[in-house]
Amino acid sequence: MKKLNGNFDKFNLAVFISGRGSNLKSILDHSFKKNSLYQVKLVVSNKKNAKGLLAIRNKNIKKLVVDFTKSKSLGNKVLVKLKEEKIKLICLAGFMKILPNYFIKSYKGKIINIHPSLLPKYKGLNTHKRVALNNEKFTGCTVHYVNKKLDAGKIILQKKIKVKKNESVRSIQKRVLKLEHKTYYKAIKKVLSSF
Ligand code: GRF
Repeated sequence: MKKLNGNFDKFNLAVFISGRGSNLKSILDHSFKKNSLYQVKLVVSNKKNAKGLLAIRNKNIKKLVVDFTKSKSLGNKVLVKLKEEKIKLICLAGFMKILPNYFIKSYKGKIINIHPSLLPKYKGLNTHKRVALNNEKFTGCTVHYVNKKLDAGKIILQKKIKVKKNESVRSIQKRVLKLEHKTYYKAIKKVLSSF
């Protein structure tokens, strides 16, 4: 982090979403705190009706609504925008698309994701349902680097909670989501401190 006129330059972040955006909201809330290392400069959504987009209304944050994973020319446009905004880290937060390889390569080691399970267990979708069906004693969430294999990049931070006896899928989902909100910004801080 560079020091300019006694102030620290914050790292510029982009957050990619597809839906509800509760993790985006939590990342944003933390960015407004006094000693935050980062600011969110850009939000990319592949869905125009993503509820998460409401979180950046009336804020000085750029928005791109495009399913750029469909074509390389769209992907390159997003990459240009990311460079323009001097984005240092991309946070996937409920982004339901697979990033193309060329995209991952151009932000190598600078894309992270949050997944609602104790990876490497329960990669992919419906994690909480599978946790409940298998009577797992613990579950949790994992923030990891993104590589070309699904939910398989190096783990940055993992937090766990105990699954209650006969706990419903809905209750597990709710409690893990709360844990995600506490975990994502800590993982971001960890990554940014290593830059
Ligand atoms: C979260 O559970 C996240 O771990 C998963 O998708 C969900 C997104 O929720 N990848 P939200 O859009 O951040 O509310």
